[in-house]
Amino acid sequence: MKDLILVTGGTGYIGSHTAVELIEAGYEVVIVDNLSNSEATVVDGIEAITGVRPALEVCDCTDYAAMKAVFDKYGRIKAAIHFAAYKAVGESVEKPLAYYQNNFLSLITVMRLLAEAKSEGFVFSSSCTVYGQPDVLPVTENAPVKQAMSPYGNTKQVGEEIIRDATSAGLPYQSIILRYFNPIGAHPSAEIGELPLGVPQNLLPFVTQTAAGIREKLRVFGDDYNTPDGSCVRDYIHVVDLAKAHVVAVRRLLEKKATQDVEVFNLGTGRGLSVLEIIRTFEKVTGVKLNYEIVGRRAGDIEQVWANPEHANKVLGWTAESSVEETLLSAWKWQQKLGGKA
Ligand code: NAD
Ligand code: WQD
Repeated sequence: MKDLILVTGGTGYIGSHTAVELIEAGYEVVIVDNLSNSEATVVDGIEAITGVRPALEVCDCTDYAAMKAVFDKYGRIKAAIHFAAYKAVGESVEKPLAYYQNNFLSLITVMRLLAEAKSEGFVFSSSCTVYGQPDVLPVTENAPVKQAMSPYGNTKQVGEEIIRDATSAGLPYQSIILRYFNPIGAHPSAEIGELPLGVPQNLLPFVTQTAAGIREKLRVFGDDYNTPDGSCVRDYIHVVDLAKAHVVAVRRLLEKKATQDVEVFNLGTGRGLSVLEIIRTFEKVTGVKLNYEIVGRRAGDIEQVWANPEHANKVLGWTAESSVEETLLSAWKWQQKLGGKA
């Protein structure tokens, strides 16, 4: 019998790509999602790629009784990957209570139920946002966690602490915290990808929507930073590479290979790219000219951050393999499939 993995937020952007990789690696997947930021039809895309339709339970992770019913129904959840969260930085500043309620309660509920079910592993979606502007680049997992710039960022920092505190107090399972850098791109099949609701806040969906004519103009937030071309630098990682790291993390937990009860890994390429480099590379690989203008800095932006991924490379045996060119092409292919749909 296949090991059953619970994927919360599994119809979302990263969760859906991870569901594909889990299925392709031989795991059985049950997705829990309340569809607050995704659509149930994403499961069709997962099925089109893998030939397997994962179970989808439309359910709120903050609802203990409903989540317990899911655990009881399946009975043998071996591990969980917890993606379900609200993730819009700006919105979190406007609605901090909604963010704290959703992101903390869902985390606590899933962790409690995993303990009650005597499951064997927990993987948490954290973020490079915990580092703020690092003093040393590339940033390693040992870099200090800086004061969060937003309630969203705070939910990741405190979320990590919740995992550590609960683990110190005794849990039947070990946890792996994955700190993602900037996930972009889509499955090469273009069956699944990012589905931003409304006007995108993140760079890549804004780039592809501008290229598709949905947005008139891309605004580049600042060219006066202390970086080679003045625009901000990030570590953009293909979402499929990111998804694959989750499979490795789950396997490590189920095979009891984790050497600490809570392990932390940076998931990035190790390469920093500026906003202007992204624009130029996108134009080169797609042949589409982007209408953009340089505007003032965006409040709260970090100047530059990129990962030192050596810990994940060595310990997990995982490396981000895709080139930025193929990653940007996959994002464009997905946007073309969506057509004029914003
Ligand atoms: P997403 O919004 O596409 O996916 C999250 C999914 O969780 C959505 O399908 C949403 O409907 C669901 N969800 C939210 N609250 C829920 C709840 N209470 N119960 C059930 N389902 C719920 O986001 P994503 O980009 O796939 O991000 C996944 C995780 O990775 C999040 O925890 C996010 O904070 C984290 N992360 C994302 C990025 C990024 O840039 N995308 C970077 C670092 C970390
Ligand atoms: C990337 C770069 C912008 C839009 C956010 C969260 C972070 C993490 C990932 C979850 C920046 C520039 C953007 C635009 C632009 N999420 N930009 N014009 O800010 O690195 O991180 O998402 O954990 O927590 O803060 O990502 O894609 O918004 O921006 O010039 O229209 O693109 O200034 O330099 P960011 P992003």
